[in-house]
Amino acid sequence: MSTIIVIGGQWGDEGKGKVVDWLTKKYKPSFAVRFNGGANAGHTVVNEKGVFKFHLIPSSSLQKNTKCVLGNGMVIDPVELVKEIDELKTNGFSSKNILISDKAHLVLPWHRLLEEVQEFERGKNTIGTTKKGIGPAYADKAARVGVRFGEFVDSNISREKLNKSYKFNREQLDSVGKKLPSFKNFFDSYNLVSKRLRSHVVNTEQILQSAAAKSSQILLEGAQGSLLDLDWGIYDKVTSSPTTRLGAYQGSGLLPTPNEKIVGVYKSYMTRVGSGHLPTQMEGKIEEKIRVIGNEFGVTTGRARRCGWFDAVLARHSAKMNGFTEIVLTKQDVLGVLDMIKVCVAYRVDGKKINRVPSTEREFNKCQPIYEEYPGWKTDTSKVKNYQDLPRNFKKYCQIIEKLIGVKVTTISLGPSTHQTVQVN
Ligand code: GDP
Ligand code: IMO
Ligand code: MG
Repeated sequence: MSTIIVIGGQWGDEGKGKVVDWLTKKYKPSFAVRFNGGANAGHTVVNEKGVFKFHLIPSSSLQKNTKCVLGNGMVIDPVELVKEIDELKTNGFSSKNILISDKAHLVLPWHRLLEEVQEFERGKNTIGTTKKGIGPAYADKAARVGVRFGEFVDSNISREKLNKSYKFNREQLDSVGKKLPSFKNFFDSYNLVSKRLRSHVVNTEQILQSAAAKSSQILLEGAQGSLLDLDWGIYDKVTSSPTTRLGAYQGSGLLPTPNEKIVGVYKSYMTRVGSGHLPTQMEGKIEEKIRVIGNEFGVTTGRARRCGWFDAVLARHSAKMNGFTEIVLTKQDVLGVLDMIKVCVAYRVDGKKINRVPSTEREFNKCQPIYEEYPGWKTDTSKVKNYQDLPRNFKKYCQIIEKLIGVKVTTISLGPSTHQTVQVN
């Protein structure tokens, strides 16, 4: 038994939820952990039990014997969490396995308001955030005025901590003419929420560390994708948390161990939602076709995702920042309608060929893709059960991607349902 870490290799929405459900069925982990982000994530699971969209709760929560941890690295909107827990219950699943780290931070109503103001003030340099209050909540954490769940559910300090956060944010909102409702009204309603969540809040790092000491199987589920990482993404069009493998340790309290499985989930093309350059954006009609067939609309915001050809320069960058031990390739079935498929193998910047991701957004914005072209397979592969039965050109495309990234593709996802998955052999 070992730790499995699942990470998005691109700009999010790679199909992590689906892959996590598949791995959960395969490895039946004792614990599943979300370690970063919050309700900006939208992870879809489609299986024999139905269609599920997770924002805060780990995608393994349908597995009866898996305890689901919302780790210390997360920022959690308690009202959204209660809603998600209730939804799970309505669907006939228990919530007793849900554990919230006492060190996870709260997303509060003023975080969302502040984010709206900040996005507006950025004008045409807007980030295009999910407007879930993620950035301001992490900013408060770093400014040491954030509120932790352990404090939120402790009636001795909850009022004082919330009030401190309220006052700190009210000052900023006042200065731009936004008024917050009275603290009393806010506190009365949040006090009820705190009571609902109290029994779930524990020291999760201790629990996880002792599970790891007993070699229990633990699955860590990344949110967003490596290109949105606060340090390693294309700053400043990033999210506010670490989205790579490194964040998994910090955001859970677990340490790296030998023989970990670091699973990079890559879509066989690129998508990006929100602002920022997408060097390989597809030509209008093809993009529209892929968007519709691939159902490329945000799970959290409903926004249309921009679609582009697979970008091996960016893919190699994220493989390096994560040390992936294997790759799961998703959504290649979507490309089955195309005659020709392009792959970006390098960039041209100011007339020079480069093979690396520039450090500044300014330089990244100048990157023009250099493509190689490959023939398509023009076949519906959604019902294929074995790797051997996939069309020759399909397998060739997988091998090209594998070679370009330099990490083995072990698994291929051929549709949204968990059973539409084949292993490469
Ligand atoms: P996540 O954020 O990485 O979990 O991904 P999302 O759930 O936001 O977006 C992935 C979308 O693609 C969802 O609608 C999935 O149901 C769907 N999906 C996942 N894998 C595949 C696949 O291999 N083929 C197809 N056609 N759809 C997939
Ligand atoms: P999952 O886990 C795709 C993007 C937003 C925006 C930027 C910052 O489903 O893959 P934020 O609200 O985090 O401050 O927004 O990051 N973004 C995502 N894009 N998938 C996600 O999550 C994302 N979470 C945030 O669109 O560009
Ligand atoms: Mg998503």
